[in-house]
Amino acid sequence: DFVKVRVPGTTANCGPGFDVMGIACSIYNELELKLLEEKNLCIEIYGDGATNIPCDERNMVWCSIEKLLVKAHLEKKYQGAHIKMTNNVPLSRGLGSSATAIVAGLFAANVFLNNRFSIQDIFELATEIEGHPDNVAPALFGGITVSTKTDYKLEYVSFMPNFDLKMVVAIPDFYLPTKKARAALKQEVPLKDAIFNIGHTAMIIAAICQGKIEALKGAFADKLHQPYRADLIPGMYDVFAAANSKGALGTTISGAGPTLIAYTIENGEEIGKAMVEAFAKHNISSKYLVLDIDN
Ligand code: HSE
Repeated sequence: DFVKVRVPGTTANCGPGFDVMGIACSIYNELELKLLEEKNLCIEIYGDGATNIPCDERNMVWCSIEKLLVKAHLEKKYQGAHIKMTNNVPLSRGLGSSATAIVAGLFAANVFLNNRFSIQDIFELATEIEGHPDNVAPALFGGITVSTKTDYKLEYVSFMPNFDLKMVVAIPDFYLPTKKARAALKQEVPLKDAIFNIGHTAMIIAAICQGKIEALKGAFADKLHQPYRADLIPGMYDVFAAANSKGALGTTISGAGPTLIAYTIENGEEIGKAMVEAFAKHNISSKYLVLDIDN
């Protein structure tokens, strides 16, 4: 029988929390999986980006499953799979589509193998495949997550605010590969920029945990990655200004972009429309969604 899982899209960084913070969003991909003993790979993909996702052995869901099978020493027993994927998370736009595919594949295959591995094992393998934990952690655990590799282990904490924080995402109609967005970054940063980001990241977490909403105003600013990525997202600062003028608490790039995000507790629709209009002034067509935190 098929194992069926549903995995949320995610927004990483939340501005200053580069490679560390993430939030699970109320937009989902679904995977149905059956592992096969024969060497037969049948991959059906429906929904967003379906025609741009490879349906052969390069498929990200299958590549992740193969890594799990190797770890379980079962790569000879299961040589194929029937994969049905229904995607709502936009592909390669900064909403964690790759983490969603990796987590869905690993989680479903693990269920198929009667939960041979712990969730921590799945978290570690997914992070190894993705390269950083900030999308994988919320995709797997839900909520707002902080994740980092300590001297002891790949650690995470997931939590929910006690107020209704919404993410208004403006999704432009072009792809921005994470690799390209990471290539734009500096390998070294000034100490004052590092301190700026530590302060702002800590402030976001503390303010959310205490429900001190006014302390979020300004806390989403970043100096480590967004200034270097601005050229890859035409109109970025104007879209931010448009959202702020409608009362957003803060604005950031979602993950590596190109989706831009405004955090708010009210006026979501109005903020979204203003963001789309601002993109349009730069000849970028986009659509907006008002998302909740997935728990
Ligand atoms: N933290 C990552 C980045 C998220 O900003 O490059 C995108 O995968």
